[in-house]
Amino acid sequence: MKTPVRQIDHLGIAVRSIEEALPYYENVLGLRCERIEVVESQKVRTAFFEVGGIHIELLEPTCAESPVAKFLESRGEGVHHIAFRVDSVAGQLAQARESGVRLIHEEGFPGAAGKLVAFLHPKSTMGVLTEFCQMDDTH
Ligand code: CO
Repeated sequence: MKTPVRQIDHLGIAVRSIEEALPYYENVLGLRCERIEVVESQKVRTAFFEVGGIHIELLEPTCAESPVAKFLESRGEGVHHIAFRVDSVAGQLAQARESGVRLIHEEGFPGAAGKLVAFLHPKSTMGVLTEFCQMDDTH
């Protein structure tokens, strides 16, 4: 039996400017920005909104070398990745690897909110950049 991912944790959305995106999420959708956080490992500034138990993560590049800057250059603003909450990033990566899926990261690293995260390559996932994220038990 394959170990299932638990639930959708968040959707990542690439934006050029969090400040310019905030009015839409706050005033049109009526959501509240929970926090803004720089994630050094990914060279992004993030803003989180909760909706129905899952989150929307706005991603703004902090420099030209940010993977999100490259995404914005080639694809423009829009949905960037889907993140699945998993019990074990290491276990889920191993399962993906065994199935022949190309990994971007061989092991988890600290993402936003202290979660352990890792990504699968969109070439192996029908074009959807896919993140696994594991709640840190100390949080
Ligand atoms: Co994410």
